[in-house]
Amino acid sequence: MSSYAGEGSSFVVVANRLPVDEVITDEGREWRQSPGGLVTALQPVLQAEKGTWIGWAGGTGEAPDPFELDGMRLSPVALTADELTSYYEGFSNATLWPLYHDAVEPPVFHRPWWDAYVRVNERFAERAAEVAAPGAVVWVQDYQLQLVPAMLRRRRPDVRIGFFLHIPFPPVELFMQLPKRLELLDGLLGADLVGFQRPLAAQNFLRLTRHLFALQPRGKTVEFGERVVRADAFPISIDVAAMESVAVSTPVQQRARELRENLGDPETVILGVDRLDYTKGIEQRLKAFRELLAEGRLRVPDAVMVQVATPSRERVEHYKALRSNVEREVGRINGDFGRVGRPAVHYLHQSYRRDELAALYLAADVMMVTPLRDGMNLVAKEYVASRTDLGGTLLLSEFAGAAGELRQAYQVNPHDLDGLKATLMTAVEADPMDRVRRMRGMRRYLRGHDVRHWANGFLTALGVPSPATAYNPGH
Ligand code: ADP
Ligand code: G6P
Repeated sequence: MSSYAGEGSSFVVVANRLPVDEVITDEGREWRQSPGGLVTALQPVLQAEKGTWIGWAGGTGEAPDPFELDGMRLSPVALTADELTSYYEGFSNATLWPLYHDAVEPPVFHRPWWDAYVRVNERFAERAAEVAAPGAVVWVQDYQLQLVPAMLRRRRPDVRIGFFLHIPFPPVELFMQLPKRLELLDGLLGADLVGFQRPLAAQNFLRLTRHLFALQPRGKTVEFGERVVRADAFPISIDVAAMESVAVSTPVQQRARELRENLGDPETVILGVDRLDYTKGIEQRLKAFRELLAEGRLRVPDAVMVQVATPSRERVEHYKALRSNVEREVGRINGDFGRVGRPAVHYLHQSYRRDELAALYLAADVMMVTPLRDGMNLVAKEYVASRTDLGGTLLLSEFAGAAGELRQAYQVNPHDLDGLKATLMTAVEADPMDRVRRMRGMRRYLRGHDVRHWANGFLTALGVPSPATAYNPGH
């Protein structure tokens, strides 16, 4: 990869993962773009600016050489086996992830993990400093890389640095538990703009600067040394048009009908689609369904639940425990209420392609999105975007960032089991006119707030001149 003195990139994205999947073919290794909203939003900017995306390609050991894909430069960063355990599974996903999600599972503090977190963040910052052209814009993503803004600024004071946190930012009293709280806050304050999903998260951050560093935030900004750092909310979204076009395609419509047939043509299909993560409220959802079956308010085979749970972070203890709890509960529900050939819960611990997910969304009467805490929750937005038929109902936790925007969803507190059951029954029995009205309202909102709108909003606030017209002329 060229150094910044040569042909540097004037736009650089730094994220833990590269937006690609490795595919092994007869000819050897190939890279394909993985279907994420982030890459859809940023690709036009990356293409227009000879942009580089820095990230981990998965696996351990030596990183693949930098390569180009679909007009983007991709710059893989290596992780050792020990760093995978201590930086990724450890500090990122057993300390920060639970702490930032309201400590719904107890965060694990283990001192050697911090050293790896610092070392890996240095590696990402180093790479960004190498590839960024003079005066470039560098956009750092998410909780795995919170030290990168300050580390990069020390190396390259000429670049403009944005940071976006995809997950919640906790209130001061929770953040204070972190043994390395000063270092983390200092890392974030290296950015010119720190973006969050919700206004409350930005406020938590600004309050923290007062509490920990005795700074004096004014409105959405805070002076830090010679610089002014801005903190604001930019709720992320999805590629709405792409989701709609998958959902209206004939094969997907056909597949949705086939799925309903396979499920025994029930009156009500209840769907959950999540990474298998303890923040998602999967256990609460299953418990609500079980109690409704036990009380006879729902019956098999008239009602069935489909729970798709993508394997995730499988070596982390919290995730192992969750998997066995969920699988035990599914077994118990099917044992008590299933019939031969007609289980009450169809549980799928697998990853699916976009078109199969879209077919599932179309086949579902009630989509249950019940996280105990979630930065945004894109599944809720994907469900709404796919329902061009205005069918289906969305049941949405008030603790998902998406609840601030999808106001017409049936909102619930997933900790309140009776409330969850009552709202599920309301959604199942909703008047069709009311359902359509709600779906139409949410769809209207979403169409005006897709992922490009998000990226443009952030980049404009970062001072990138007219990103909307510069990078998305047709949009
Ligand atoms: P998180 O970022 O915490 O995983 P989100 O709901 O914001 O939660 O995003 C999850 C993304 O993963 C969505 O784009 C969703 O479509 C995708 N996804 C979820 N489950 C599966 C699955 N089983 N197979 C493929 N993709 C999935
Ligand atoms: C959330 C995080 C992302 C992360 C994704 C998948 O969306 O905000 O940063 O990439 O989960 O998790 P994984 O650990 O597999 O990258």
